[in-house]
Amino acid sequence: MSKGIYITTPLYYVNADPHIGHAYTQIAADVLARYHRSRGRKVFFLTGTDEHGQKVQKAAAEKNLSPKRHTDGMAEKFKDLWTKLNISNDGFIRTTDEKHKKTVKRLLKELYKKGDIQKRSYTGWYCVPDERFWKEKDLEDGKCPDCGREVEKIEEENYFFLMSGYQSKLIKYIEENPDYIMPGIRRNEVLGFLNNNELDDLCISRPKSRLSWGISLPFDNNYVTYVWFDALINYYSATEYIAPEGISWWPATCHLIGKDILTTHSVYWSTMLMALDMPLPEKIFAHGWWTMTGEKMSKSLGNVINPLELIKKWSVDSFRYFLLRQVTFGMDGNFSKEQFKSRYETDLANELGNLLNRVLSMINKYNPLYSVGNPDGFDKQVDELYSDLDELYGDLKFNKVLDRIWEIVKAANIYIEEQKPWELNKNGEKNRLAEVLTNLFEALKNIAVMLSPFMPETSVKIKKQMGVSDQKSSDIKWCPEDSFKNIREPVPLFPKN
Ligand code: MSP
Repeated sequence: MSKGIYITTPLYYVNADPHIGHAYTQIAADVLARYHRSRGRKVFFLTGTDEHGQKVQKAAAEKNLSPKRHTDGMAEKFKDLWTKLNISNDGFIRTTDEKHKKTVKRLLKELYKKGDIQKRSYTGWYCVPDERFWKEKDLEDGKCPDCGREVEKIEEENYFFLMSGYQSKLIKYIEENPDYIMPGIRRNEVLGFLNNNELDDLCISRPKSRLSWGISLPFDNNYVTYVWFDALINYYSATEYIAPEGISWWPATCHLIGKDILTTHSVYWSTMLMALDMPLPEKIFAHGWWTMTGEKMSKSLGNVINPLELIKKWSVDSFRYFLLRQVTFGMDGNFSKEQFKSRYETDLANELGNLLNRVLSMINKYNPLYSVGNPDGFDKQVDELYSDLDELYGDLKFNKVLDRIWEIVKAANIYIEEQKPWELNKNGEKNRLAEVLTNLFEALKNIAVMLSPFMPETSVKIKKQMGVSDQKSSDIKWCPEDSFKNIREPVPLFPKN
């Protein structure tokens, strides 16, 4: 069976409305999926919702709804936003899906049988919002060391996954596979942690007396599974009942996550897979956080950016473009409306939009022949970028791809100023005029193709105005048989706001 490209996002908690942070992971994964599809590869792009656990149970109770009613409504909200953001996911998994629950139970049973799950009594401090246990020594000023919120002391019997037994195997794996955890700073963080601390066993159950909203343990009906143990398994369970058949999807090509959930993925998930004798994903990439004036976005601070407001004012594509151009993927970024406006006006309206407008207007006005002559370096620039794309996307260097595309946009604008097609026309230099406008036309066409994963609607608009077919990037080549005959009157791509 051939191996497909399998891209995942985290499953979002359905305790609060989706915001810019969720949209970020989603758009990045979408760009990656669209890129691979455009090269003719088989892709399975999965997203979904994380619906069990205390946080969700609490959110439902606050709204006076049953957890099921609450999660049904919230899952629709996420789906709706993904449609509005033009997210091309192939599957949407909900951890309340019966088939997912079945797989979780099967794998739990397997680990229990193997002796990798054991019952023990336990005292610990529990952070409800993070759904994580801490030891007394981990607390900072008596609060959760991760989010700084209050923790609850809990004493009970629970089931543990014997994660500690996999510590040295995990260190070795990360050391031998330098691209497993990316970017490098996150890899070093995980290695530093593993090399300097003794890994604990992981508490993977919650007594039903305290939490009923979860998947029952197949070997003890008084308990439900810890939400992370349930949720992480989605990446695998989806390949059994959502992904298209006939292609092998596991191991996943890339798990895209935020840096706050790096430990759960790189340590919990990796060791779970090791214990199950299953191959580990090829890559876990942790991106940074969007902040507002340097502060974490949160409902309580009232500084949460709503993606819907932004796309209403500025268009979906400019929002997608901004998030991936503004910040190196992997680093934190501060969101500012001024910077957004400036990118819209400068990069999109002035540089890209005007380029299309000028080129089409000149072709319409001067009516040159489509004429392949000296490409004046554009062919080389396009070819070089095209052959670098696999590596750039492989390292999730989204802003580098956009920088390189913009080098061509800028070069084309400079070329117009230097070549002065209006003078070539005035002086009757018909052949050179045809050559220059053909070069600009070809450059724009390739820009539109390479922009398509980032700005799918804009790419189609450009191609429509140019009268060229909706080509894939696998079709890229300099000056195939073409003509100017289907060109239309230019319409501004990014109107003034
Ligand atoms: N349910 C877990 C994930 C389980 S995956 C098997 C979870 N959900 S979450 O809804 O809280 O977060 C989902 C993702 O959104 C995380 O990757 C997180 O990093 C990302 N973001 C949430 N807020 C963010 C920002 N302000 N900026 C960037 N991304 C952040 O964790």
